[in-house]
Amino acid sequence: MLPTRVTLVEVGPRDGLQNEKEPVSTATKVELVQRLQAAGLREIEVTSYVSPKWVPQMADNADVMAGIERRAGVRYSVLTPNLKGFDAALASRPDEIVVFGAASEAFSQRNINCSIAESIERFRPVVEAAHRHGIKVRSAISCALGCPYQGEVTPDEVERVVRLMKDIGVDHCGVADTIGVGTPRRAQAALERALKHYPASEVSGHFHDTYGQALANIYAGLELGIHTFDASIAGLGGCPYAKGATGNVATEDVLFMLNGLGIETGISIDGLVDAAAYISGVLGRKPVSRSANALLAKRAGVGMKGAA
Ligand code: HMG
Ligand code: MG
Repeated sequence: MLPTRVTLVEVGPRDGLQNEKEPVSTATKVELVQRLQAAGLREIEVTSYVSPKWVPQMADNADVMAGIERRAGVRYSVLTPNLKGFDAALASRPDEIVVFGAASEAFSQRNINCSIAESIERFRPVVEAAHRHGIKVRSAISCALGCPYQGEVTPDEVERVVRLMKDIGVDHCGVADTIGVGTPRRAQAALERALKHYPASEVSGHFHDTYGQALANIYAGLELGIHTFDASIAGLGGCPYAKGATGNVATEDVLFMLNGLGIETGISIDGLVDAAAYISGVLGRKPVSRSANALLAKRAGVGMKGAA
């Protein structure tokens, strides 16, 4: 039995755009969020409060948060790696913050410049402060299925960080395949470790699609009863500290699969295709998403009889 309803967390404005080399204007980011919520997305990761020296593309975080038109029922989240980031984010009134650690020591050092243990000590006061302000805390555990520096990552290493995050009071556990090397059984093995400490409603999968495995991994997550997944419009993105990793699985591709499975999301595929076409137009390239390209071709009247 698969879940009957799935929540998609749109990470394109953050995970997607953070990786763009050329500056993307604040107005474009705001317009993208607008189109995503118009498509029916109810969870949107908008930006990150990280060092602008590390990730220049996210330097306009406060302006983006100030520019978006908040809709009732939409949860807007931001990444906060430390108290400095949290304090800056607070003025923007996020509904949720994300602390991001890693299952591998090497990636922790490259991405946030500290060990796993140090990262947890940085997150501890962030979690406390967020809860004092009534803000939910989600985690991302990077490199849960493999690390660009360490190589193989075991489920035990994932569970160690899951437990550390749980101990400091993190509300939700995100299992992330940063470099997209995971395959379905391995994805299940990592997700199962998260499910030992969190209910299925507070576990999510974040699958980059570098090796084309993300949809299969999401299906594997559905088989475990997991019903929250991150996805990125037009398949944008990657991580600046994981060279060669491509974007998150495209939101349109996930929705196409979920629609075919009869799973409810409340999201319009046409709205997503509009958003994908918009941001891809601004960036001057085609969406990575197979579904967006197929549906755009169909709109343009390009053949493909019988295609959905
Ligand atoms: P650090 O250099 O160790 O920090 O960086 P520090 O505390 O020593 O401070 C150094 C300077 O940074 C100081 O400024 C601080 O004020 C400033 P200076 O005195 O030199 O002018 N600083 C900050 N500025 C703005 N916002 C902050 C902040 N903190 C310190 N929050 C730090 C540590 C964590 C800040 C840095 O390593 C960093 O910003 N890393 C972010 C890396 C990042 O954003 N990576 C991408 C997101 S994670 C991801 O994509 C994975 C995910 O998608 C899941 C997956 O796929 O795996 C979530
Ligand atoms: Mg990511």
